Amino acid sequence: MRKPVIAGNWKMHMTCAQAREWMAAFLPLISNTPDDRHLVVAPPFTAISTMAEAAQGSKLELSSQNVHWEGHGAYTAEIAPAMLLEHGVAYAIVGHSEPRKYFSESDEQINHRARSAQSNGLIPIVCVGETDEQRTRGEAERVIRRQVEQGLEGLDPSKLIVAYEPIWAIGTGKTCESAEANRICGLIRSWVGSPDLIIQYGGSVKPGNIDELMSMSDIDGVLVGGASLEAESFARIANYQAS
Ligand code: PGA
Repeated sequence: MRKPVIAGNWKMHMTCAQAREWMAAFLPLISNTPDDRHLVVAPPFTAISTMAEAAQGSKLELSSQNVHWEGHGAYTAEIAPAMLLEHGVAYAIVGHSEPRKYFSESDEQINHRARSAQSNGLIPIVCVGETDEQRTRGEAERVIRRQVEQGLEGLDPSKLIVAYEPIWAIGTGKTCESAEANRICGLIRSWVGSPDLIIQYGGSVKPGNIDELMSMSDIDGVLVGGASLEAESFARIANYQAS
């Protein structure tokens, strides 16, 4: 039984004061959310401690937006698993298309990060997805398969989330058709060969498309950027009703 994971990725948004305000608006809106789903937010590192305090006793769990493969050391701007675990963080996003694009993160580095997360008890959320050009050239499946095979090497699929995020759908308002997102998620599941793997869809998820996405057989949750910054819209997404 795969329990869906609804996760918000705040990226480089939200001061601590804004995070507190967001929580004050959000928590009452999830007081009746069923326990059949996980609710997660990935704040910037500076707001993790504030969020951990505010989330105490609630259904909301925390994710980081990155994690390093070493336990400590001379790695300026990086974050070690223990620094996250100290705040009760349970998940770590790795391989998002933004660090892949802006910092040239490779599948090998992403794999190191994911292994480090898993071996320290964090659930890695490994993002994969093709660009517009790759899709147009008919290379989407090959690209995603490579990212899956290299990024997930040596990982335990029962303690792992894969987020299928077509890059052309991120922050653009262009959502991938639910049926196509579902087809790719099904392919990822067959490549990994684990019926229990949690696979999210990400890319312009909104209150208006969440119910349809969550009704798909191979979509086990979503990774939400822009729409997670507003408490009301993320609460609507958290309170999805699948048919
Ligand atoms: P978006 O971002 O929902 O704003 O498209 C998704 C993501 O980057 O994870």
